[in-house]
Amino acid sequence: MAYILLRPEWQARERDVTDEKLYRSRRAFIKRLGLGSVALVTAPTVLGCAGEPGGSAASTTAGGPLDTIPKKAPRKGYPAPRNANFKVPERPVTDRLASASWNNFYEFKNNSMDLKDVWPVTGAYEPFPMEIEVRGLVEKKFKMDVSDLITSMDLEERLYRFRCVEAWSMTVPWTGFPLRKLIERCKPLSKATHVRFECVNRPDQMPGIRASRSFYKWPYYEGLRMDEAMNDLAFVATGIYGEPLPKQNGSPLRLALPWKYGYKGPKAIVKIEFLDRRPGTFWNDLQPSEYGFLSNVNPNIPHPRWSQASEKFMRTLDDIQRIPTQIFNGYADWVGSLYPDEPTTPQRPMAR
Ligand code: MTE
Repeated sequence: MAYILLRPEWQARERDVTDEKLYRSRRAFIKRLGLGSVALVTAPTVLGCAGEPGGSAASTTAGGPLDTIPKKAPRKGYPAPRNANFKVPERPVTDRLASASWNNFYEFKNNSMDLKDVWPVTGAYEPFPMEIEVRGLVEKKFKMDVSDLITSMDLEERLYRFRCVEAWSMTVPWTGFPLRKLIERCKPLSKATHVRFECVNRPDQMPGIRASRSFYKWPYYEGLRMDEAMNDLAFVATGIYGEPLPKQNGSPLRLALPWKYGYKGPKAIVKIEFLDRRPGTFWNDLQPSEYGFLSNVNPNIPHPRWSQASEKFMRTLDDIQRIPTQIFNGYADWVGSLYPDEPTTPQRPMAR
């Protein structure tokens, strides 16, 4: 078992932790789908596998990762004033090229699980125009044009920590508005306890959907409790680094929930539904033992296949430092009171 020691703990091989028969059948299945990656393979596993941060930065010339801001994205309000309440004093801001070239957006994971291979296949995706549908427990169902929504809001910039469940992290300046403002506009009924988000489903523009249609339950969907959604930290991001979002970062808009693992922040949202029960979520439905509904960043709860006690902070694609992970990703003062049962001492793996 010497090889385990040679691998970082967050990259433990799946066959070290999964029943051998199950491991082999999943491998064969994923291989057929063309989703296979070198190390870890089930589709949900894929969320923990995709390759080490590092390697060379992609070209910044025309057609590079910074050239994917949709031409029709509204520019009004950019760059937005920085809200000084949201800062990250202990570490630098991640280089914008890294955040534009290192992405998880499974709708664009085609034949590669490498996070650097997302932006190059976003060319056919045209996020504008797009409509967002509001439904469920609301005073009145309606649809809104996403450009109208963005231009009608007072945009602000917030510097947030960003922590992926795969144990890489960044510091990102998002532009957008509080999720609470969007929810108020939706006029949910008082009996709504949860809100569900559904993402755009365009197989003709999204090669990852085409490649994995029979395996993943597209479209991507996520959910929050209402008290989480109404918290001051919950943010609708329409931009990043002072400009509208590049396609690979979730254009036209996505959620930024910095106290939760990155997969709780759905990209390219097209439906918002208010419910009186907890909704299912994309990763939890696929692999409930590994990805919980709450999914708060917590160094005390290891993922079943790797530790969450520390993370690889990416200043650039090549400048990566191992740092300790903080409970609620450093936002305990903002959200700690929402989770009286959140473990504060080391636990066995569990999905919450
Ligand atoms: N939203 C959609 N629609 N599809 C996805 O695959 N991936 C999630 C989240 N939102 C995902 C998504 C995951 S796993 C992460 S870590 C973040 O987006 C990545 O955001 P970034 O690429 O902007 O860093």
